[in-house]
Amino acid sequence: MRDAQPRATFLQEYQPPAYFIERTELAFDLYEDYTTVLANLHCLRNADSTADNSLFLHGEELELQSLAIDGRPLAEDEYQISDKGLLIHRVPEQFELSIGTRILPQDNASLEGLYKSNKMFCTQCEAEGFRKITYYLDRPDVMSEFTVTIEAEQARYPVLLSNGNAIHEESLANGRHRVRWHDPHPKPSYLFALVAGDLHYIEDHFHTMGGREVCLRIFVEAKDLGKCQHAMDSLKKSMRWDEEVYGREYDLDIFNIVAVDDFNMGAMENKSLNIFNSSCVLCSPETTTDAGFQTVEAIVAHEYFHNWSGNRVTCRDWFQLSLKEGFTVFRDAEFSADMGSRTVKRVADATVLRSHQFAEDAGPMAHPVRPESFIEISNFYTLTVYEKGAEVVRMIHTLLGAEAFRRGSDLYFERHDGQAVTCEDFVRAMEDASGVDLTQFRRWYSQAGTPLVTVRDDYDAEAERYTLTVTQSCPPTPGQPHKEPMLIPLAMGLLGEAGNLPLKLAGQAPDAETADNTSTVLLLSEPEQHFVFEQVRERPVPSLLRGFSAPVRLDYNYSRAELCALMSRDDDGFVRWDAAQQLALSVLDEIQQQLTDGQEPSVDPLYLDACASLLADTSLDPALVAEMLRLPTESYLAELAAAEGADVELIHRAREALETALAQHAESQWLDAYRRSVVNAPYAPVAEQIAARSLRNLSLYYLACAKAQHIGLAQAQYAAATNMTDRLAALRVISQRGTQQQSDEALDSFYRDWQHDSLVINQWLQLQSAMPGEGALARVRSLMDHEAFDLRNPNKVRALVAGFSNNNSLQFHRPDGAGYAFLAEVIEQLNTRNPQIASRLLNPLTRWRNYRPDRGELMKAQLERLAALPDLSVDVYEVVSKSLQ
Ligand code: PHE
Ligand code: ZN
Repeated sequence: MRDAQPRATFLQEYQPPAYFIERTELAFDLYEDYTTVLANLHCLRNADSTADNSLFLHGEELELQSLAIDGRPLAEDEYQISDKGLLIHRVPEQFELSIGTRILPQDNASLEGLYKSNKMFCTQCEAEGFRKITYYLDRPDVMSEFTVTIEAEQARYPVLLSNGNAIHEESLANGRHRVRWHDPHPKPSYLFALVAGDLHYIEDHFHTMGGREVCLRIFVEAKDLGKCQHAMDSLKKSMRWDEEVYGREYDLDIFNIVAVDDFNMGAMENKSLNIFNSSCVLCSPETTTDAGFQTVEAIVAHEYFHNWSGNRVTCRDWFQLSLKEGFTVFRDAEFSADMGSRTVKRVADATVLRSHQFAEDAGPMAHPVRPESFIEISNFYTLTVYEKGAEVVRMIHTLLGAEAFRRGSDLYFERHDGQAVTCEDFVRAMEDASGVDLTQFRRWYSQAGTPLVTVRDDYDAEAERYTLTVTQSCPPTPGQPHKEPMLIPLAMGLLGEAGNLPLKLAGQAPDAETADNTSTVLLLSEPEQHFVFEQVRERPVPSLLRGFSAPVRLDYNYSRAELCALMSRDDDGFVRWDAAQQLALSVLDEIQQQLTDGQEPSVDPLYLDACASLLADTSLDPALVAEMLRLPTESYLAELAAAEGADVELIHRAREALETALAQHAESQWLDAYRRSVVNAPYAPVAEQIAARSLRNLSLYYLACAKAQHIGLAQAQYAAATNMTDRLAALRVISQRGTQQQSDEALDSFYRDWQHDSLVINQWLQLQSAMPGEGALARVRSLMDHEAFDLRNPNKVRALVAGFSNNNSLQFHRPDGAGYAFLAEVIEQLNTRNPQIASRLLNPLTRWRNYRPDRGELMKAQLERLAALPDLSVDVYEVVSKSLQ
């Protein structure tokens, strides 16, 4: 057990910094067995601060070598060092602080601060990694102008990069060289970056709307040069889009991206030197799936968009993280929607929210979009801060309308350029620019939990009046037992026999913005409200939460016939998809009941026929059809069953029964869809091709579920595939549905073909982590000893270990608890080495209360075992202890 309990930090306790660092000069000397960092910090007292004249600088795992103020070395009694930092007892109003430290990047396995990935040096400073590089005011409201000198051996590290512009380069006598960078834009330390390595690049140019010529480079290892073009294209598209949609122009003459193999997250928006997990920037048709291409496009855009929403205007403190992340995720989601299929993107995002963010909101780590306290900030890079945060911005967009929202964003950037601000500043700019009062809306930032919106209706045929009664509530979350009503925009329409009906809300002028008048946004603000529609000539089916207009759970007692109607005829693509999902859920419920009662499951033909006709309708977007026919995952079904205690075996059996029934009932339609969805053009990651491939590969999967002999189709597709999307889809089908021998042969041949490409092999690992059958855990364990696995590489851990615990529900939740024990073992191994990854792996165990007590207790026992570890990292401690509370 830990001896001292780590302390939480509270939003309430925020204090402005007592000192500013106006200029920061850093000199790095990189060697194989150590690195020295000399920091010259030009400090100035904050005139508004009432604190005393001591100065505390953050610093961890540093070896102090020299310390001077204005050139005068400090005596030992003038300062004090702890494991958190350096306290200088007295400092002047204005002074130059010189600090020499020595660090060991080659031993840094946490991938935070300065570390080595393969043979290159790189940094990761967000959120609090800079303090592992030198003593500093490592907080985002201290913004400084950086000048960085890097010295290293020329042959091993020909490329030396930092933020801003290269202002000086020289070769030194001893085989070393030196490059100096200057970033004219003051920035917080978390946006600092340094890279040194034997890197190669592709280059392109972008002309900004204001006439600036920007040199764009993507730096990679030589072997990866052929995988950069899509990221470059995505970057140029992002730069254009941000000019067109937000009026935001790039502000330096160079923009660099570097790919590194060992990276805890997806990518990092360091000023003018974005550092990417190689899995999020490298791609080629031969090695990367459609989903991979889309991820690269989205993440390149996301990091680029941060240049304004994050860098030019940054966060005052880490409680405001969603200020930059929620806004930037909203921006990248809209970008992706504009580049591809808007509805499909919306469905994908809603799926993530519902199956993962709602779970977080209902679990022990639940927190508001703007958290009120944390022990370790790394644990708060969450779906709530990112994805729900983006939904909150989207709701502001909905409430204000596109034009007023743009005025709000212009005002926000103008007002706060160069500042470190709060979510409140963002909301106020939106209010000021639009005149819309967002007082009640602000609760989305402060209240955790997913609101439940319940809708009941009443149709008065004689009066031709249709009334919706809408109630809202929000369940208690840790520290928040009672919730106030939220302002919820509920987009809706009414579906009649011949299509969507015109809407006439009693006491309201017709909605001017929607030309066809069949869609409107109801504003929910009270615990209960009534909305009356007039001149409704027939009993309609309500089409609710169109476009997923708010991150809420919706409850309306649809009949299956009504869901079928929505699914086949509603105008809103999201509602159609959602109806298909709800129909599947209702059928799954019934099957579970049948199984519980010891009956043979029988699947409602209404559902099967609706699916078959959907599949046969070639006028529809194949991508949306595929999404509608994809059954909810077992882990999502477990989430939904949490209140009664999820029964993993029952969920699995029911889902299998439905999958088989759907496969067999529509076998000829699946076969037809498979055959007609062939892409003949050369591979391109464009919406039309992606749609065809997704329906074709889903069809292949269902065909294999229908009949063992269809594995032949998968084998043929595998042999003939010219792109990774089709190849991997075929391999997945063979490994999930083929015989042991078919599966082993295909997996082995894949490994032989791709063992030279680590990113491809990660997909191979992930695919195997989800393989069915009793032997699954043994397979995962043996893959951990495979030459292709490396515990130090987060992508590999995510692929194999998180892949298993998140996507292989039945085998992870083995009745003997061996799945849980395995996960806890890996967490224990990573606990001190890479605490951020260890902590993230914990996620499935935090859900222990959602399962039947037999499993729940076994899960809890592993959490308790971890809690008792002697050297528990703060990251793991926070999640484990909150999960056990
Ligand atoms: N700020 C990064 C992003 O969202 C994410 C990140 C956080 C990366 C922390 C590394 C460390 O774009
Ligand atoms: Zn981000």
